[in-house]
Amino acid sequence: MMPGPGGGAGPLVMLQALLGPEVVAAVRSDEVERYLVDHRRLYHGRALAIARPRSTEQVSKLLAFCNAQRIGVVPQGGNTSYCGGATPDASGTQLLLSLERMDRIRQLDADDCAMVAEAGCVLAKLQDAAREADRLLPLSLGSEGSCQLGGNLSTNAGGTNVLRYGMARDLVLGLEVVLADGRVLDTLSTLRKDNTGYDVKSLFLGAEGTLGVITAAALRLFPREASLATAFVAVPDIDAAVALLARLRASSGDRLSSFELIPRAALDLLSAHLPDARDPLAAPSPWYVLCEAASARADEDLTAMLAQALEEALAAGQVTDAAVARGARDRESLWSLRERIPEAQRREGLSLKHDVSLPVSHVARFVAEAEAWLRQAAPEGRLVAYGHLGDGNLHFNVSARSATEAEALAARTDAIRRHVHDLVRAHGGSFSAEHGIGALKVDELVRYAPPVELELMRAIKRTFDPQGIMNPGKVLRR
Ligand code: MLT
Ligand code: ZN
Repeated sequence: MMPGPGGGAGPLVMLQALLGPEVVAAVRSDEVERYLVDHRRLYHGRALAIARPRSTEQVSKLLAFCNAQRIGVVPQGGNTSYCGGATPDASGTQLLLSLERMDRIRQLDADDCAMVAEAGCVLAKLQDAAREADRLLPLSLGSEGSCQLGGNLSTNAGGTNVLRYGMARDLVLGLEVVLADGRVLDTLSTLRKDNTGYDVKSLFLGAEGTLGVITAAALRLFPREASLATAFVAVPDIDAAVALLARLRASSGDRLSSFELIPRAALDLLSAHLPDARDPLAAPSPWYVLCEAASARADEDLTAMLAQALEEALAAGQVTDAAVARGARDRESLWSLRERIPEAQRREGLSLKHDVSLPVSHVARFVAEAEAWLRQAAPEGRLVAYGHLGDGNLHFNVSARSATEAEALAARTDAIRRHVHDLVRAHGGSFSAEHGIGALKVDELVRYAPPVELELMRAIKRTFDPQGIMNPGKVLRR
């Protein structure tokens, strides 16, 4: 794939002849970190070149060429993957395809409650555009200021509003996808009802760029949230948190949009590493919940409703203390605690991450069993289990108790992963809730996916990408 010894034009030269050096270029040394190193710094790749197309037509030409030449293509959005899903391998033979220049909102229709946007749009920009049209795009996650729509859809991202609005997949009405051979699949309709055979587009959602490149999507919007109520709540244990979830869903008339579980260990990390992070409550508690209810009606006093429900929960022993946000600034500072947990963990050093999901009714038992095992089998590790309890997704992360214990903990990475994932399966859960498979969890997929499903996935991969050029080595090994 590199220029041959005989001096024939190499693929970079040919790609530049096809699309111009403005679209295809060598990765400059000052761009290496941005494009070739993943967010967690687990993967350091090399690339034949970087392509930054501006149109679907250019993506189509790139893929047709790469398919004919059997050049691996690694699509990339905001490069925020937790699983190395968007980093090329170390061979230097793969083309990095950045969608960042395809960042137009093609259409936004408030009456249709829909928008059509290109893959390189940063998620926060789409949220803002929807809000300006008095609509809500509910997909919301910590990296929303830098992650891009194409990556969100390719990984079927989750985040903090899944409880009420579902995953990224649930927000998609249609897609535009460039297939491995350069053909364009256009299902960019904003129809709610369209039962016309197999739902082919859904295969690209969660495929992590291994079947084709999503270049644009038609997204479902909702009425804009006009009143919000947010509270930071101390709970004695996870059972109490689960009981509180049911209580708040009922008392809010199912308007609860977020229900995040936070352990004391996370608050300790926040105050150790981010000095402006303030504990909102006077006395420490083993567990906390950050919850939010939202309504499209401006005249609803959701805060009073939430405060009343929390009073009742206090009387029932499900809650020990609570801080209810009294305005936008309060709300922001409560959310910033939750959103900066990954950053605090990163600053602390080694963190063994497990992105698992369980039936909500099993979370407390799972955590008790896993924690008891950890205490005994990995005493150097401190559990920092937090996440989206409302939908059963836990980030079951383990930090080293001290810098000197990091090495011993790192040596247990595989044993901890195996135990945690086996226990998750025993509880009817999934080892991959919202971060995807990427390069990191390919072997886990082989281990835990039902064999028939794996066979079907491989057959789909062969059908969509017979030359194996699309994001090679991610999700499935050939
Ligand atoms: C989060 O919810 O903060 C993330 O998905 C990240 C994590 O696993 O740390
Ligand atoms: Zn998460």
